[in-house]
Amino acid sequence: MLDPIDFIYNSASATKNAMHRLKLKTNPFSEKPIRGNTKFFVGRTSELREIADIFGAAQYGSVVNAAIVGTKGIGKSSLLNIIYYAAKKQGHWAVELTASQITPRQFLIQVLYNLIRENLISIDGTICSEYIKYSQKIMEIYRKLIDYGDRTPVHYPRERIERDFDFLLNEVKEEDKLCIILVDEADQFAKKSCLSLLQFFHSFLYEDGILAFFAGSPTLMDDLTKISPAMRDRIPKIINMPPLSKEESYDLIMRRLEDAHIGNAKKFDPFTDAAIDKIVEECDGIPRKIIMTCSESISIALKKGVSKIDEGIVKMAMEVLGISVGHQILNHLTPAQSKIVRALAELGGSSTVTELAKYLGNSPGTIGTHLSDIYEMGYIYKERNGNNVYYTLSKELMDVLMNDND
Ligand SMILES: Nc1ncnc2c1ncn2[C@@H]1O[C@H](COP(=O)(O)OP(=O)(O)OP(=O)(O)O)[C@@H](O)[C@H]1O
Ligand SMILES: [Mg+2]
Repeated sequence: MLDPIDFIYNSASATKNAMHRLKLKTNPFSEKPIRGNTKFFVGRTSELREIADIFGAAQYGSVVNAAIVGTKGIGKSSLLNIIYYAAKKQGHWAVELTASQITPRQFLIQVLYNLIRENLISIDGTICSEYIKYSQKIMEIYRKLIDYGDRTPVHYPRERIERDFDFLLNEVKEEDKLCIILVDEADQFAKKSCLSLLQFFHSFLYEDGILAFFAGSPTLMDDLTKISPAMRDRIPKIINMPPLSKEESYDLIMRRLEDAHIGNAKKFDPFTDAAIDKIVEECDGIPRKIIMTCSESISIALKKGVSKIDEGIVKMAMEVLGISVGHQILNHLTPAQSKIVRALAELGGSSTVTELAKYLGNSPGTIGTHLSDIYEMGYIYKERNGNNVYYTLSKELMDVLMNDND
């Protein structure tokens, strides 16, 4: 008979032993944000130099906003995070936002809220001493922002937000400080429904003392200027992130392994040299690909109970990872839902309930119900354009459904 308590105990210690056999304390390849810890950060010297130049110039009044662009998993968010900490270290105000997590309407509110919370209020919840003489007004704004939520809208009209913002920037902020705004996944703003937000950026990004960095895909600036041509002058600088070099890729793997090694492990233990070469060769200098391949290889080695990771295991890991997120989503949908997202793809990736119902020969009610289920799961986006609501496939589903040859 199997004792359930013993079972869990034994399995847990088996994993621990297997880890030990690999000469590791933990799997060092979990994907975690940098948060100011640059121990594992490699390369990017030319990008950092460009950013340092931008900072330097901005302090002397010549502000040049920049776009940081590159393919998926190349390290855009990580670089943005480093800028955030560098900005804070120099005493500037800084806010970091992810465009895909906020609606355009929420954007300004979120900027204002984060600006106050992260720059004007200390850890114990009181106003930082240097801003104490403005505390009443700041707290008044802050309280309004805390109450705000998409579900419980409070009356906070745009002009009012802009006025409060103006007050913070022009009265509260010291003149020698910059307000650095970091927008990650900025591609989300390259939509018609974001036009008014982009138009706001036109004046906003020309304010003295504001420096903005937008991170996104290689086509970010083209996409933004298609919606709003003036964006090109507002964000004149483009910092392009190329893949890591071979040396940098080796360095990335080694630093993480060394941190997790136990006892007398050698440099690249538990990987064989050939396994490491294969990872560096196959991952094309994309940090996320390298990290995920190493992590998956370790998981497989743990399950197999081996003490060395060879090329064979790396190959298996790459096969497992070959299943894209999009395919995983498709596996997760019911047949009816899957039919709808495929129809969406056939209609060009975006469509209304009416169009879809007509296309599939179903009632709009049924289609609408399915669509809202899929929307709730976050696999499609919803966007209003005039009187119509458009449903659009998520990036992951676009990738599998629209670029697939099968
Ligand atoms: N220069 C670097 N040195 C070491 N690790 C890095 C570096 N750049 C990125 N990474 C690691 O690679 C992973 C992916 O990086 P990140 O999330 O910054 O990429 P991204 O370009 O923002 O990806 P996405 O396109 O999905 O937004 C993270 O785990 C990060 O820690
Ligand atoms: Mg990112």
